This record gives sequence, C-alpha cells and structure tokens, in this order.
Amino acid sequence: MKNLAILILIIFFFSNVYSQPAYKEKYRPQFHFTPAKNWMNDPNGLVYHNGEYHLFYQHNPFGNRWGHMSWGHAVSNNLMHWKHLPVAISEKDSVAIFSGSAVIDKTNTTGFAKNATDVPMVAIYTAHIIADSTKPDNYRQEQHIAYSLDNGRTFTKYSGNPVLDIGKKDFRDPKVFWHEPTKKWIMLVVLAQEHIIKFYSSPDLKKWTHTSDFGPAGDYSEIWECSDLLEVSVENEPGNKKWVLINSQQYGMQYFVGEFDGNKFVSKNPANKIYRPDYGPDYYAGITYNNLPDGHPPILIGWINNWKYANDIPTDPWKSAMAFPRMLSLEKRNNEWILLSNPFKTTPPLVQDAYMWELQVKVKDKQEVSVNSQTIAVEIEWEVQKNTTAGIRLAVNGQRGFVIGYDARSQKLFIDRSNASDTNFHKGFNEWSKYEASLVPKKGRISLQILYDKSIVEVFANNGEVNITAQIFPDEKNNGIEVFSKGGTTKFTQLTVSTLKSVW
Ligand code: FRU
Repeated sequence: MKNLAILILIIFFFSNVYSQPAYKEKYRPQFHFTPAKNWMNDPNGLVYHNGEYHLFYQHNPFGNRWGHMSWGHAVSNNLMHWKHLPVAISEKDSVAIFSGSAVIDKTNTTGFAKNATDVPMVAIYTAHIIADSTKPDNYRQEQHIAYSLDNGRTFTKYSGNPVLDIGKKDFRDPKVFWHEPTKKWIMLVVLAQEHIIKFYSSPDLKKWTHTSDFGPAGDYSEIWECSDLLEVSVENEPGNKKWVLINSQQYGMQYFVGEFDGNKFVSKNPANKIYRPDYGPDYYAGITYNNLPDGHPPILIGWINNWKYANDIPTDPWKSAMAFPRMLSLEKRNNEWILLSNPFKTTPPLVQDAYMWELQVKVKDKQEVSVNSQTIAVEIEWEVQKNTTAGIRLAVNGQRGFVIGYDARSQKLFIDRSNASDTNFHKGFNEWSKYEASLVPKKGRISLQILYDKSIVEVFANNGEVNITAQIFPDEKNNGIEVFSKGGTTKFTQLTVSTLKSVW
C-alpha cells in the first residue's frame, strides 16, 4: 500500500514536470523554446497547418543527453507561446527517428486521406537503424514516412517504408517541399561524409527519382547535415525571389543563393567565399517552415547548441533551446546575394518595460546602463570611429560580462564570452569563446538588435546581414549592462533596452 502511494506520488511528480514546467530554473530561457524536460537537438518537421505552427524536434524522452531519438512536439499560434504535446514519433525496435521535415498533402497525392475532410500531414524522416545494439556504429540510414490525419497529434508509420534507401550509412535529414511549377514533391538528403546534397522528386512522397547532386562546395571541412532549400524575396524588389540553399557542417551553418528549376540548384554567389546565416558557436541544424500562408515571411529556426559540448551544458532538467524564429530576406550587393535574418515580429509584444537613452550619448571608456536584467531585447547604434572598438557588455558583474563589439580597424563584429560565465562543465568550452565576422558599417554606423535570454545571446547586425548566437551560463546576479568605447570616444545614436516577459 505504502509502495503504491509512493509510486502514485512519483508518477504525479513526473507527469507534472511534463505538463506544467516551472521554467524558473537557473539558466532557463524565458522567451525561447526549451523542452519541458530532457534532451533536445535539431528542429524537425517545421510546418504551418490550420492556424498552428508545429515544432517537432529531435528528442530523448528518457534522459538529458542525446539518445533514443524521437520527435518531440509543440505547437504555437504566434511562434512565441508554445504548448507542449506528447512525443509525436517514437523510436522503436532499434530504429531511431532522426531529423526530417513535414508537409501538408492537400491534394492527397499519398492516398493517406480516408475521408473527404482528411488532410494528411506527412513526416519524412531518417530511420537510423542499428541491427545489433552491441555495435552502435554499425548503423544504416534510410528515408521513411509517417502520416497524421489529426493535425499532427498522432502518426502512423507507412507500411511501405523505406521510401528511399541507397544503401549508404550516412544518408540523412530529408527536407521535402511542394514545388508548384513542376507540380512535384522535392526532397534534399545529405550524404554527410561526401559533402553532397542529393536532390529527388516524387509525385506521391512514396516513389522518388534522383534528379541532381550539389556539392562539395563552400565549407566542407566537416560532415554535412540538415539541408534546406526555399525561395526568398529580394528586399526593395517586389516580386523578385531567389532560391536559398542552406546546410550545416557539424559546428556551423552556411548558405548558397541561386536558381532552382525543380531538378537542380545552381549557386550564383562567388564560389570562393563562405556565407553563413550565423557566425557564432551556437546556431546549428536550422531549417525553415513549410506551408506558410501567402505573404508570410520565410521563417528559419536553428538549434542553439554545438556538438562540441552539447551534452555537457549545465542545464537541468532540460537541455538546449531553439533560437528565436528568424524571418529571411535577400539583399543584392554588387555581385553577391546576402541573406538577411531578423527576429520574427510576433504579437502580442513581450515588452514589460523599456528604457531609452537620450540620443547622441558620447562614451569614452565605459558607461553603465541603469537596467539590471537577464531577459532583454536591445537596439543599439553608434557611429564608427577610426581605430576604436565600441560595443556593449551584457550579463555584467564587475569584470564578468559578455562582450559584443565592433573593431573599426579590422572591420569585424565580434563576441567574447571568455569572461561571461563559469565554464567548468566542459574543458574545451573556453577555447570556443571568441567569434567574429566581417561587417562594413552602413552610413558609417553599426546597428545591433540583441536578444538576451538568461543563457542565450542572439545578435543581429545591420539589418540581419551578420548574426552571432552564443550560449553563456552566468550567475543570476550578473545582470548589468554597460556600453563601451576603447581607443577613442564613440557617439551612440540609439540605445533602447526592453525588459521582456516570460512566455511560459
Ligand atoms: C544534426 C544531426 C542530424 C541527425 C540528428 C540526430 O544535429 O546529427 O544529422 O539527423 O542530428 O539526432
């Protein structure tokens, strides 16, 4: 009897953690998505349907480290307030559910709809198959599908799986979308070791025909994973769109801009340069939403972590966050296409309180800002001075702080988290502390939008042409803000700090 009471208490405790997470733990982001508990990596199956943005994700339902890969699930109607749902597709019989995408089969090309009112949501994922559990490295990867007739709440694995198997070991992360001009489904799958994205097309998501290959190209110093292809609008050129191909290379991401005719992607950017949607340590496996309503900007969501130390970050009972959803557009500059990503403007606003500096504040050395918070949005702009490094420090407490700066001499935007937090949880973390990216001032100015949320910093520079995302793990009392200018005096032309409410 006593044992039964204890069991009921234990079950009650765990079910409660799942359904009503407190979200009050140290380091817990307040306006970014994190799973209620346990491990999360890549976003999967981003699809909009019936007024809901679905966020599926790589998830270990049983622990706070990578393993037992299944698709976790949450929905939102504004990409900001999320509702956790039960695991959507589970690992079974040593077949793990790796990354993939989801589509809405409006015309029932699959035949999965049973009634006239059914609209199948179809998940296309990599089945990671380990025949002998004592030899986890002896795996193979095939592409499988599963369908849902109840808005993604329950999925049935297709009995005809695999829908694509080429007998390769590292062949994964299918991205599928509907290509209206050729009236076909398109699938991209990476050959991770070969640095190749393979393109396929299909009339029904079941029979796939190989159409072309892309790569190696750009950065192929590490294995390739998680590719995506989408059309993005060019700013200030109504009606003009280009195709953007993105992929991940183990510790970072890159993009290509060009043309796609339904069979083959051709890059139009200079081949000798690497373009990244984010230059920080913690932005990975980003993919975009399928089936967004007409006129909705494309939305990219990345995983905020890095495989170098992902399993060891000091958060509990969850691990990893998703980046704030980013809207994408393109800018043509001389002979290059630049991808701009900016935080998606959602409603209702999260702002609790806004602090604004008077305009044209001149700073020499440093100046404190009278806001103390670890959940803020910052807009800051300054005039770049010769030989001067200027910027802002967050999570400040004496010498401690996270630095975001611009060095006028090297024309680089940089972050430095080496003195931002305790890094003992991983012996290598400190080595990956300084990140930078080239950036030319616009009309002589640098302007930044920053989202700082407990253990996450996302920086968007000059209308999102350079972004840097990084994790930090500061004490709660490290919550000051400071503006600085070294080597000269800097005129700051804007500073707005908004403290943000929790979405949980
Ligand atoms: C990327 C990745 C994918 C794979 C998944 C497994 O982070 O390695 O290639 O499908 O994670 O969880």
